[in-house]
Amino acid sequence: MRTPFIGGNWKMNLSLQAATEFVETINNQIPPVSEVETVLAASPLFLQTMLEHNESPLQVAAENCYYEDEGAFTGEVSPKALSEMGIKYVIVGHSERRKYFHETNDFINKKVQAVFRNHMYPIICCDETMGRYENGDHISWMVNQVTAAIQQVAATDMRHAVVAYEPSWAIGTGHTAPADAAEEGCYLIRQTIADIYSDEIANQVRILYGGSVNAENIHELMKQPDIDGVLAGKASLVPQEFVQLANFNH
Ligand code: G3P
Repeated sequence: MRTPFIGGNWKMNLSLQAATEFVETINNQIPPVSEVETVLAASPLFLQTMLEHNESPLQVAAENCYYEDEGAFTGEVSPKALSEMGIKYVIVGHSERRKYFHETNDFINKKVQAVFRNHMYPIICCDETMGRYENGDHISWMVNQVTAAIQQVAATDMRHAVVAYEPSWAIGTGHTAPADAAEEGCYLIRQTIADIYSDEIANQVRILYGGSVNAENIHELMKQPDIDGVLAGKASLVPQEFVQLANFNH
């Protein structure tokens, strides 16, 4: 049985003050990790403060990192430094990184390896554009993204990875994928992992859906057999809505 994973991704939103107040507000409203893993990714500018003010089972996560641990990479975020400050999960390969910052599959794979190398776990995002979805080659597109992202990842690490299916046409649009379409995408990802590793490994990986998730539509999504959780953007910015997501099974 896979532990449900409720993720939030603040992107480049809120402020240090808002982040502090957010964590304090939800402190006594997050379920135990044994029941649900609740993970919130934020700007690197907020992480230390969030960790210091967090007194709940919430896990503070990073939205990105570089693939080297240290060196002359101005402005980049070190995975080694993230790990040393207590970060456990890092989002890698979000569609916005691919779209605006031109991150390639190879670049993303190097980041996945760096996250594992630093004893953290990646939340690997894969997407498809509506264009590919409409002309039907979204499946090969996504299989290629997932396959490339996990190159050279050992099975013992892969079982701890989290993969997020985030159709870019659903991100920020209010148009959530129908539950059966979201399930199809997550099932495909799980089969791709099974083909590369084994059914045993694939059945341990949490696979999430992301794209206009909210407190209303999460319930139908979480009924799907291959959807183990969500990665919410807008709905994670409001404390009470994020708490509702984390407590989806109550
Ligand atoms: O990483 C999650 C994000 O891309 C989804 O955003 O606002 O559609 O929930 P949103």
